[in-house]
Amino acid sequence: MKILVIGSGGREHALVWKLAQSPRVTKLYCAPGNAGIEQLAACVAIQANDIAGLKSFAQSEDIDLTVVGPEAPLAAGIVDEFRRARLKIFGPTRAAAQLESSKTFSKELMARYHIPTAVSQSFTDLKPALEYLDRQHAPIVVKADGLAQGKGVVVATTLEQARQALIDMLDKKTFGQSGSRVVIEEFLDGEELTIMAFTDGKTVVPMLPAQDHKRVGDGDTGPNTGGMGAYAPAPLGSPALRAAVLDQVLQPVVAAMSKSGSPFAGVLYAGLMVVKGKPYVLEFNARFGDPETEVILPLLKTDLVDVVEAVVEHRLDQLSVEWHDRSAVCVVMTSGGYPGSYETGVPIAGLPEKVLSGDVLVYHAGTKRQGRDVVTAGGRVLGVTGVGPNFTDALQRAYGTVRTISFPGCHYRSDIAQRALRAGTGRR
Ligand code: AMP
Ligand code: GLY
Repeated sequence: MKILVIGSGGREHALVWKLAQSPRVTKLYCAPGNAGIEQLAACVAIQANDIAGLKSFAQSEDIDLTVVGPEAPLAAGIVDEFRRARLKIFGPTRAAAQLESSKTFSKELMARYHIPTAVSQSFTDLKPALEYLDRQHAPIVVKADGLAQGKGVVVATTLEQARQALIDMLDKKTFGQSGSRVVIEEFLDGEELTIMAFTDGKTVVPMLPAQDHKRVGDGDTGPNTGGMGAYAPAPLGSPALRAAVLDQVLQPVVAAMSKSGSPFAGVLYAGLMVVKGKPYVLEFNARFGDPETEVILPLLKTDLVDVVEAVVEHRLDQLSVEWHDRSAVCVVMTSGGYPGSYETGVPIAGLPEKVLSGDVLVYHAGTKRQGRDVVTAGGRVLGVTGVGPNFTDALQRAYGTVRTISFPGCHYRSDIAQRALRAGTGRR
């Protein structure tokens, strides 16, 4: 089977690594890939948003199955386009991907189906938005409606800060079209949890619960990022909580999408806030999370090709998806300055020759090859995952490797998965 993975980050490196283990795969391609992915797959220089280019590549190379990593091509309709050309592809259609690409769409759907989420209002004009804000209390959350790479959310501790965010998004257009509509949302005080699920539009198979670390600094300080690290299985995701999420969130959303005529197939990602033991939806994503995928896939026992195919062929009910009883921790190493502006082209020292071996997986996120060097090429540069029988071991493996790799300006959080350790069990 010939498989094409679309994207160039740590998530796609993890996908390629996992798919490469399948005895069913004869050839793997990645577009455009990165300096780590090229060790496992043939990288082709087609950008993830070049849908026409990707389609003609898939046709000319007789690709049997395409797996989409990032949200932008999904929101732009890559799945619709591939299906029209009778090419098999894993991911939701453009209409279904609106669960991620429009916060207003997902908030309205949740309201209609009584799915637990924060109270919110959506606005396109500054004046009514400011008037609404005047009647609220801080802290309060302001979100750009469209895709903003995890950076379009301002958790304002004062109303003045929220006012400024509204002016920036609606007036100064700091997020361009993505911020031409905003959502003002009630602040939820709790602990965050990610539950992703495979779904074929009918059957929903949740993955292990994971926790992301969105803020750039230790102790959850500083601005939001695309994600500074993750661990799984998160002890917060108890069996009871997972059952509640399946029952109150995932199943109803998938059923609602099918009912509306836009069935959702692929990975549905629920970003949750757990408040007093109850899950509330903060956001949906229409794809694998990054860096959650970097800890989830090493724990997946079932052949990923079998899972992906069952989703694409709408027979997920016939597959049993199994997991390893182990723990995984991913520490993201970023360029200095991220999530603000940063330098690229900085040489990385200490990269192991074989980046994915045994219980340590050094995923490349933003890297490229320059002569004999591997240099930085993005904000998130590497995701270092350690896997072990418990979180103590997984953490030692991850940080032990992080400390052997360096580049000027490199930053990483030193408190990834501390909550899992504090939860005491070291395991679920
Ligand atoms: P989102 O992209 O909607 O998940 O928001 C990014 C991050 O902002 C989340 O991971 C939370 O840390 C924070 N956040 C978003 N919405 C809320 C909310 N209603 N209450 C508290 N924090 C929030
Ligand atoms: N880890 C958050 C995301 O993938 O959007």
